[in-house]
Amino acid sequence: MPKKIWRVVDLLDWTSQYFEQNAIPNPRLDAEVLLGHLLGKSRLQLYLDFEMPVFSEHLTPFRELIKKRIARTPVSYLTNRKEFMSLEFYVDERVLIPRPETEQLIETILTTQTDKPQRLLELGTGSGVIATILAVHQPEWDITATDLSEDALAVAQKNAETHACTTQIEFLSGDLFEPIKAINPNGEAQFDWIVCNPPYVKKTEWDSLSPDVRDYEPEIALFAGDDGLAVIRRLIAEAPEYLAPNGNLILEIGETQSDTVRTLINTEPAYCSCELVKDYAEKERIVLARVS
Ligand SMILES: C[S@@+](CC[C@H](N)C(=O)[O-])C[C@H]1O[C@@H](n2cnc3c(N)ncnc32)[C@H](O)[C@@H]1O
Repeated sequence: MPKKIWRVVDLLDWTSQYFEQNAIPNPRLDAEVLLGHLLGKSRLQLYLDFEMPVFSEHLTPFRELIKKRIARTPVSYLTNRKEFMSLEFYVDERVLIPRPETEQLIETILTTQTDKPQRLLELGTGSGVIATILAVHQPEWDITATDLSEDALAVAQKNAETHACTTQIEFLSGDLFEPIKAINPNGEAQFDWIVCNPPYVKKTEWDSLSPDVRDYEPEIALFAGDDGLAVIRRLIAEAPEYLAPNGNLILEIGETQSDTVRTLINTEPAYCSCELVKDYAEKERIVLARVS
């Protein structure tokens, strides 16, 4: 019996159906992204080449990708790519996959009026998306990016290299402000911005997370104690020491945390204002606090 010739269209139909049967969210999109990745084609090109036959040199690795996706490996870890604010980033299991909410954080910084190049510190840079995008948009700014995870810093550095901003971003490893204190023991590090998308998931929420997140993304990037506020509390308390006059602390927070975070900021005398910014889904996900 002649072997079946698989065309692009057959593979997409079969795979999306199989993903759907296995409760994979966005089955068609995932099938297209994975096949496009393997064939080196954009999703549009796949549609233009719908009738193109696909041979065993690609069928075998495609089967492997399907198996991994069924085991809930996130698509971005399978392709090692994530597009974010129109730029391409390398990602793997060492870093959190950047989320759309974080675009709002970056846009809030970029749309705030400034009269001189800013000195900005990003804590917990992960894949480096925040620091890299800010560097690309503001080449005059002086940026420092840190992470507790050396593994994550290696990914961030790779992304900074790809986007030609390694000379603009200084990468340091360590726990929150410790690396800053280490290079400036007398406290002369004065930043106009301290930015962080911290871990903010409650330990107790582990069971309720999707397996894509729970089983693959780094725990250190997700969880922050029993109430999810362990890192945020430290950031609010410690940031004023490192902020210049009129400097800003800007954080991404969980969707149920805005009231508690507002109270934490209002009870810290160093801050003179606190603003909550809503995301595209009308949830208060960004907090901007200023010192006088
Ligand atoms: C939610 S991820 C954010 C990653 C990236 N900035 C983004 O927005 O996609 C949090 C990052 O903070 C880092 N992190 C967690 N605890 C930390 C700590 N105490 N000090 C420094 N970095 C920390 C994690 O390794 C992780 O890369």
